[in-house]
Amino acid sequence: MRLAVLTSGGDAPGMNAAIRAVVRQADALRIEVYGVWRGLQGLVDQEWRPLTTRGCANILQRGGTILNTGRCQAFHLPAVRAQAARDLRDAGVDGLVVIGGNGSFTAADLLNRETGIPCAGIPGTIDNDLPGTDRTLGFDTALNTAVQAIDRIRDTASAHERLFLVEVMGRSSGMIALNTAIACGAEAVLYPEAGTDAYETLVSQLRAGWERGKRSSIVVVAEGDQTGGAFKMGERLRVDYGLDLRVVVLGHIQRGGSPTALDRIWGSQWGAEAVKRLAAGETAFYLGVQQGKLVSIPLEKVHDQRPAPPKELADLAGILAR
Ligand code: F6P
Repeated sequence: MRLAVLTSGGDAPGMNAAIRAVVRQADALRIEVYGVWRGLQGLVDQEWRPLTTRGCANILQRGGTILNTGRCQAFHLPAVRAQAARDLRDAGVDGLVVIGGNGSFTAADLLNRETGIPCAGIPGTIDNDLPGTDRTLGFDTALNTAVQAIDRIRDTASAHERLFLVEVMGRSSGMIALNTAIACGAEAVLYPEAGTDAYETLVSQLRAGWERGKRSSIVVVAEGDQTGGAFKMGERLRVDYGLDLRVVVLGHIQRGGSPTALDRIWGSQWGAEAVKRLAAGETAFYLGVQQGKLVSIPLEKVHDQRPAPPKELADLAGILAR
C-alpha cells in the first residue's frame, strides 16, 4: 500500500507532528508514504516524493509545515481534480491524508466523491472552526501566543492608562478572539458571530468600566468582525470620543512558533489514526475530538455549519470584565 500526505490552507502549529505520525505509523504497517509539496497545488503539479521515518526526525517541535502549504484556485475545477486523481493512481497512491481546514476538506470531499480516491482529513487550522470537533491543530498554540502578547500589552496599557484594541486572527470565526479575551481578562471582545450592534455595545462597556474606575482597557477584535477590524474601530473611537488609544494587529505571529504539547499530542494521535483507518479500508472521513475522545467524522460533514463560539463563554467574558 502507498499513501500520500499533504498540508493545505493556512499553516498551523502541530502539522509537522501529524506528518511525522503519518509516516511513522505507516512505516510500522509497512506502508509507503509520499509527501506532496505545496498543498493541493502539489497534487496538480505531481510534486511528490517518498517521506521516510528518518526524514521526519526533529520536526515534532517545529511550527509551520515541512511540506509547505498554500491555497489552490485550480483545484476548484472538476477537470483538475479528475487529472489529479489519475496522476495519483498512476503513481500507485491508494489514499490521501489532507491536513488542513474547511477549504482543504471541501476539496478532499469533492475529490473523493468524484474520483473515489480514499481521503482522510486531519484538522489543521488555528481558527478552530471545523464542524464535529472540539479542537483543531494549532488553535491551542495560537491562543497561547495571543495571550502572551496581550499580557505584555496589558503592562504598557496600564502604565499609560490607555485603551488598546488588539486584533487577532479569525477571518470568519471568533474562537480565537473570545477565548483570548477570557484568558487575558479583556474589557471587551468583538467577533463575527456576535451580532451587529457591536459599536454601541463596545462604547457602553468601555463607559461602564471607566465609571467603575478602570484607567486602562484591552479590547480584543477578531479580524473578521463586521466592524471592519481594529484599525477601523480605533479610528471611529478616536473621532467620536477623542481617545488616545493604540491599535495592535497580532497577525501571523499567531500562526508561527513551536506547537504546545496538546497540539503535538493531537497531531500525533490523528496522524497515526488516519493511517490505520485508511489501511483498514475507510474512505471518506476526518478525525476530531469530542469531549476528550478521538472521533471519526464523515468527510461530507465539513459542509455543516461551522461551530460558533459558545454563548456561555461570551456571557462569562461580559461578567468577568468588571
Ligand atoms: O485560516 C487560518 C487563518 O490564519 C485565518 O485566521 C486568517 O484569516 C487567514 O488564515 C490568513 O491567511 P493568509 O495567511 O493567507 O493571509
